[in-house]
Amino acid sequence: MLNIALFGPPGAGKGTQAKRLLKKYDLTYISTGDMLREEIAEGTKLGFQAKSVIEKGGLVSDEIIVRLIEKRIVENTNPKGILFDGFPRTTVQAYILDGLLLRIQTSLTCMISLEVPRKELVSRMIERSKISGRSDDSADVIQFRLKEYDNKTKPVANFYKAKGKYIPIKGTGPIKEIFSTINTVIQQTLRKKWINVVLYGPPGSGKGTQALKLAKKYNLVYISTGKMLRQEVKDNTEMGKKVAATMARGEIVPDEIAITLIERVIQENPDTKGFIFKGFPKTIVQAYILDGLLLKLNQSVSIAIGIELSTLECFKRLSSRGKTLNSRPYDASMELIINRLDEFIDHTKAVGEYYEKKRTFISIEGNGSEDEIFDRLTETIDNALLKTR
Ligand code: AP5
Ligand code: MG
Repeated sequence: MLNIALFGPPGAGKGTQAKRLLKKYDLTYISTGDMLREEIAEGTKLGFQAKSVIEKGGLVSDEIIVRLIEKRIVENTNPKGILFDGFPRTTVQAYILDGLLLRIQTSLTCMISLEVPRKELVSRMIERSKISGRSDDSADVIQFRLKEYDNKTKPVANFYKAKGKYIPIKGTGPIKEIFSTINTVIQQTLRKKWINVVLYGPPGSGKGTQALKLAKKYNLVYISTGKMLRQEVKDNTEMGKKVAATMARGEIVPDEIAITLIERVIQENPDTKGFIFKGFPKTIVQAYILDGLLLKLNQSVSIAIGIELSTLECFKRLSSRGKTLNSRPYDASMELIINRLDEFIDHTKAVGEYYEKKRTFISIEGNGSEDEIFDRLTETIDNALLKTR
């Protein structure tokens, strides 16, 4: 998700730029100022409480703001992201925003601050007052809004500076030019964002073959927990000794072990463009773990792709692989193959549902030639990336 907060003093042009950004990125718009004005116009209790504060140019209480936006954020169903205008406006609100975004397993991508000299702010708002009909666009109220900004809102910048998410830009000059600068910084920020693909499907669906090819095409680091575990067993490491028997039975290894391996690969590749996960997450617990691991790094799963293939077809593929040099120890007997297919149906199918709920899941047909499936996968990934970029 692309979650942007537009920041700056009253009159900086947040609303003006927000309109353009919404059109371009198709985001959900959350402007606390607009929402409060709507509440007042509709004569709600909340509007009544906020009215006198706004008329004086003060800040409405954090309590009212939470009540106003909580639902809008946690019930957001737009996977593209949210644009915040005029929020967060206090450090308390910044903490609240972090907490609310965490509830929908995301975080703020960046805060873009429009820098405009005081004199110009005032003249813009005086000019706007001729047409805006806003009760707070009068000379003395404007002065008070600016004072409130200095005292309560400006410190919010430090909160995001500390997270490396604060991007100040020049807010003067033609509106079009400012918009183009905003787009440049968004693109720069997105480039720092990893592309993380989860490739998911029953044993024998061709995940391994395709994941390697995808890693090469998109320049991603390939993470196969199965492959890493086999290596540990082969090298007879402490970990290898622990998991050898479990793996030989075709069962899932303990989560702590898979986590250790994934953390290790992530740490070894700090400059990567992203990862392709194959064979992980295998359970809902692991799906939560992966989200947690990525969130710590300000990253997330970009897309989870399920390769659909019938159990019978999987069985045929695995048993014929068992007769080749490429055979895995668990391809050797019918019983082991059935165990692994069962394991998929019992535990791993739920992973697809987990990503479906988060709207990051797309399934593709797993029948066809290797090249056909690869084309389906790249088309799916390209489309998903276009939407999120
Ligand atoms: P809110 O509605 O958020 O107002 P604000 O922050 O005071 O900001 P403005 O909407 O006045 O300015 P803007 O930056 O959007 O600029 P705009 O694009 O319009 O909040 C209102 C009140 O609600 C607050 O005072 C508070 O009481 C309460 N409130 C809201 N959120 C709250 C929260 N989270 N916590 C507590 N209280 C909250 O541009 C201004 C003018 O300049 C326009 O006329 C525009 O056409 C013009 N302009 C824009 N860009 C340029 C440019 N590049 N060159 C020349 N002119 C330009
Ligand atoms: Mg505004």
